[in-house]
Amino acid sequence: MTNLSHEVNTKILGTGIYLPEKIMTNFDLEKIVDTNDQWIYERTGIKSRRISSTEGGEFPTDMAEKASWKALQAAGLEPNDIDMIIFASVTPDQKLPNSASLLQQKLGITNKCASLDIAVACSGFVYGMNMANSFIKTGMAKKILVVGSEMLSTEVDWTDRSICILFGDGCGVAIVGQAEEGEASKIHATHLGSDGSGKEFFNQPVGGAIEPITETHLKERTHFMRMKGGEMFKVATRTLADNARVVLERSGKTLDDVDWIVPHQANIRIIETTAKLLGAPMEKMIVNIQDYGNTSAATVPIAFHEAIQDGRIKRGDLVLFDAFGAGLTFGATLLTY
Ligand code: UT7
Repeated sequence: MTNLSHEVNTKILGTGIYLPEKIMTNFDLEKIVDTNDQWIYERTGIKSRRISSTEGGEFPTDMAEKASWKALQAAGLEPNDIDMIIFASVTPDQKLPNSASLLQQKLGITNKCASLDIAVACSGFVYGMNMANSFIKTGMAKKILVVGSEMLSTEVDWTDRSICILFGDGCGVAIVGQAEEGEASKIHATHLGSDGSGKEFFNQPVGGAIEPITETHLKERTHFMRMKGGEMFKVATRTLADNARVVLERSGKTLDDVDWIVPHQANIRIIETTAKLLGAPMEKMIVNIQDYGNTSAATVPIAFHEAIQDGRIKRGDLVLFDAFGAGLTFGATLLTY
């Protein structure tokens, strides 16, 4: 029952993930492009990544469905308890209809809940969480399924070693709702933003309204994602550190209060530099980039879920989600789990 006479706090009720079965190691990549395991591991921290099957069953809404069943079970909820879906992805199954509506149907949700997609690249899950927090706090929704699901393997040029080594496919979800009175769970502070002046650092201009894909693009391979890695690296470390400082200041908490930082997994050196800039020990950083590479909107929820599963993140812990991505979008969430 909604009782707006006391402060409404947002609680993460359950999480779930799905990773495609196919594992592509750095050694597999050595056979495709001029690279090697040592370079990739030393420069990025990545050992392997998952690749979705194109035969079906592992497209973004398929992965989201599988992850959502796990989160529903963890939360003790039925599909029709969900009254909003926020689906973060830059690699939707199809252009229309949107992925959240496709997922609603796959989960058998018949309550016609609001279903919206957000395309803010690697910050997508954090954007979704922060938006969900606002909807929960205003009472507009009671149980929100927040999804980060990506199939980037279709958007990278597998002949370009500067980019194809970095990305992978996967999905992570969280269901959020109201905390019961007296529970510690709470979102203390949120932060979202974007700096469009950095649009050239990471983009995919071909395939939209201005420049539909033509035979020439396919031949010249210009329809894939393009990234200025060095520029992104510099912005990333500054942004992740700033994000963290903003939510700490907004909540009146300090880094010492924070038990875990769940950063976007783009490069282990970005995570290490961010930790250094913040003065945080690496032991506080949740890292799984070695196994999955950069899965864009899915990195934070996958890392978060795994850390809950292996017992590192516990109820009552103070957790900081911290992300940045193409746009250049950015965001952070400071929450008691
Ligand atoms: O989700 C957000 C988006 N992504 C990011 O934020 C990624 C941010 N950027 C990065 O992670 C790094 O900049 C990269 C991993 C992309 C690149 O690492 P780097 O240390 O900046 O390498 P670099 O581009 O400066 O290249 C160094 C050398 C070059 O050779 P020369 O010119 O020094 O002879 C490259 O050609 O490494 C070469 N190189 C490679 N060698 C083996 C580049 N890619 C590879 C490769 N294998 N895959």
